[in-house]
Amino acid sequence: MRTITTARLLLRPWRDDDADFLLDLESRWEVVRFLGPHPTMMRTRADALASIGRRRAVDHPVHGIWAITTTDGRLAGNLLLKPIPMSAGESPADPPEVEIGWHLHPDAWGHGYATEAAEAVLQDAFARGLTRVVAVTDPDNHASQAVCRRLGMTARGRTTMFYGTVNELFDLSRPPA
Ligand SMILES: CC(C)(COP(=O)(O)OP(=O)(O)OC[C@H]1O[C@@H](n2cnc3c(N)ncnc32)[C@H](O)[C@@H]1OP(=O)(O)O)[C@@H](O)C(=O)NCCC(=O)NCCS
Repeated sequence: MRTITTARLLLRPWRDDDADFLLDLESRWEVVRFLGPHPTMMRTRADALASIGRRRAVDHPVHGIWAITTTDGRLAGNLLLKPIPMSAGESPADPPEVEIGWHLHPDAWGHGYATEAAEAVLQDAFARGLTRVVAVTDPDNHASQAVCRRLGMTARGRTTMFYGTVNELFDLSRPPA
């Protein structure tokens, strides 16, 4: 998976030695509470290592799951670009919808890092042929909705089409060349 750099950040593949950070990130209720209909906190380092293995297994020219670090190497969170899971009974769009998502450590909130990381990934993905991206947030996740708005995404209202739950849907199309 490629690395992507911004003014303040480096997005790179997850590594096994990130396991302690990932466990610290995903064992926090404030980080996972809005993730899907049944949020669960990560419990063990073995779970973190298994999750890192799954993140690294994404092998795609455009999609990816990146560790967000500051340029001095400190881990800040996770940025993903991947096909979005449909709710039961929903048919995937053609081509399938691709979602962008972000999870940052609370120590890294309030610096604009999620927006900066997502902007860079979208710019890179649009240049590589992606034409449209969606983001879904829990209706109460105002911090994440603010990231969507900062990215210039359009609010499309509530939907139950994805992840088997009610979400606010945002989308963005590739800007004209
Ligand atoms: C969603 C989440 C990533 C948002 O993080 P965030 O830090 O608020 O988002 P941004 O990266 O856009 O940063 C914006 C904040 O940084 C501030 N900021 C500081 N310096 C900045 C800079 N140089 N540039 C931009 N913003 C800056 C902004 O003022 C804003 O703070 P405010 O909301 O208090 O005004 C974070 O709350 C999170 O990880 N939540 C848990 C996981 C989650 O719910 N993920 C989303 C699932 S849909």
